[in-house]
Amino acid sequence: MIKLPTGLLVLIIVLSVLLAAVIFFSVWAFIEPHVLKVTNIKMRPAGKSSEFKKQSPTGAPSAAPGIRLFFFSDLHADICLIKPERLISAIREAHASSPLDAVVFGGDICNNYRVNEKGLSYLKKISDACTGLGIPFYGVTGNHDFGFDPSDSRAFFGCIENKQISFTSHSTGKTVILSGLDDSGRKDRIWYKVPETPADCVSVVAVHNPDSILHFSENDHVDFMLSGHFHAGQIKMPFKLEFLLLRADNLPKMNVIEGVFEHNGTTLFISRGVGCNKLPLRFGALPEVSVVEIFA
Ligand SMILES: [Fe+2]
Repeated sequence: MIKLPTGLLVLIIVLSVLLAAVIFFSVWAFIEPHVLKVTNIKMRPAGKSSEFKKQSPTGAPSAAPGIRLFFFSDLHADICLIKPERLISAIREAHASSPLDAVVFGGDICNNYRVNEKGLSYLKKISDACTGLGIPFYGVTGNHDFGFDPSDSRAFFGCIENKQISFTSHSTGKTVILSGLDDSGRKDRIWYKVPETPADCVSVVAVHNPDSILHFSENDHVDFMLSGHFHAGQIKMPFKLEFLLLRADNLPKMNVIEGVFEHNGTTLFISRGVGCNKLPLRFGALPEVSVVEIFA
């Protein structure tokens, strides 16, 4: 039997472990885009602090939520490995456990609006299911949809950009207004103004890019905000390199990447999204759709 020097033996062991880790992570990165996580998100009214504070998933009021939404974002249907039937069954299950007030889409139909047909047929299936269940289906567009007219009836969702949809809170009887903001794409970025809502209403705004919250003015009234865009990094790397190297967004630099946060009186939810950008890979960022309960 050949006896290897100790140093060489250690090197071989270290390299073998590294190789095994690389193989494991690579295989998992291909599997992860197929694994849909349905999350239960509870959003409570925010404090006035300008610090971003993560809202604890526990501690939601025992009362019924004011409104109950099903939220999904970042479909990127040309590189989406979650079938529409899986989303539809999540919607059905959520609605069966307690009625949903609406299904809301947070933008990015496909990676490029010129290949939107795949995304539009995906959204049609969601829309048909919502119609069958009697649930309204609303949405906004994302940066990848820039150039696509969301009022195109083939979008299959009611576009709520600069529109207001009224609900009545099941718990307080207050008027809850759902509205949305457009996304101008990355080039020559415009941060659109939030539609005005009466102070005594609860304002819920769907807007694709979470960085929008940094551009609200003091008088903007946004109690709750639903967004996506970051894909939770999609392929998480050490030291958040995925954001430092590939993205210019500001919130990730403040460690505001996914989940529920509060800031300046707004409670913000950032979804990890469903599909993939550029490559059919995710790592540490499971595809997500959410049952969102708003306590107001
Ligand atoms: Fe996206």
